[in-house]
Amino acid sequence: MNQNSAKTVAAQDVAEVVVPCLDLDQTLSFFIESLGFRVEMITPADSPNTAIVSGYGLRLCLRSGGSGKDIFLRLHSKDRTAQTLQAPNGTTIEIINPSVGVELPELRESLVITPLTSDASWTVGRAGMRYRDLIPSRLGGVFIASHIHIPSGGPVPDYVHYHRIKFQMIYCKSGWVRVVYEDQGDSFVMQAGDCVLQPPEIRHRVLESSDNLEVIEIGAPAEHETFAEHQITLPTAQLKPDRDFSGQRFVRHVAEQTPWLPWRHSGFEARNTGIDAATSGMASAVTVQAKQGAVLSQSKHDRDLMFLFILNGSAKFEVGGQVDGQKESVIVSTGSSLTPPHDCNYRLEITTDNTEFLVVEVAQ
Ligand SMILES: [Fe+2]
Repeated sequence: MNQNSAKTVAAQDVAEVVVPCLDLDQTLSFFIESLGFRVEMITPADSPNTAIVSGYGLRLCLRSGGSGKDIFLRLHSKDRTAQTLQAPNGTTIEIINPSVGVELPELRESLVITPLTSDASWTVGRAGMRYRDLIPSRLGGVFIASHIHIPSGGPVPDYVHYHRIKFQMIYCKSGWVRVVYEDQGDSFVMQAGDCVLQPPEIRHRVLESSDNLEVIEIGAPAEHETFAEHQITLPTAQLKPDRDFSGQRFVRHVAEQTPWLPWRHSGFEARNTGIDAATSGMASAVTVQAKQGAVLSQSKHDRDLMFLFILNGSAKFEVGGQVDGQKESVIVSTGSSLTPPHDCNYRLEITTDNTEFLVVEVAQ
């Protein structure tokens, strides 16, 4: 191995990006006055053609002699207005304000029925993890729901990270997984039926899993950024279970400690995960169980996402004439999921005893 590549970068090492400009004076003024950079060096004194400026954790070497139009800079600042600017040398500057809330695209509802049919439903991702996309349409890019399977357990190659999201939860379907969250104490194990609500930007890490771990992960927006966290190590020394993360609290739901209570549809019982209280009603998630013959009739709902995932058993799902102008009836069994749109008039008849399913509802 090359000796240089084996060394880590020392704290005093620096790097500069060379940004060409035709008019150094104009470009330098823009970086200092409009963007808040500061001058580190300028040369030569009598007729400057090179200046080094720094700001936003970045050092730039502005150098006379060309156009900077092929350079694109992204500056992150909580104190500046999010906008895109053009510097006098042609360089594009995108200012990103991370304190501005996550914006969701326009919701495009549709009835999505995703059966668990064959191995073809799965794609193989990083580190042998298998993924099933439960809402391929993503409802316009607003929601993603994934069925994730880790065939071989052991340590998970993860690092402390966080996500810019509006909603994210993980439900353990089978197997177990050890996880750790910022300000929520020591690492803990999620067993089948347990779930967590990951509020926006909470630092977390997945540590290890059993063989054949299966989880359901639901998030909004469908495409979101994941940031590595280099400053905070987990577990954190402090315990703050009530900490507010952008209006949400962390939830760790332990199924075994939660009673089954009558649900809003007669003949069904539910275990409430507590996500409704932790999100002030923005979202909810319950595990529901019912015996053969129980019928759930729903005409319209007022949420942006109504997501059902059959954990065990089977049911007959029927919709009225509102969806694609035709009546549809389908048997959904273990591993199948449904997303009825808000104006969908549907009926779910349980066809196997001890059927269990997950119901997640989210409003924007
Ligand atoms: Fe994560």
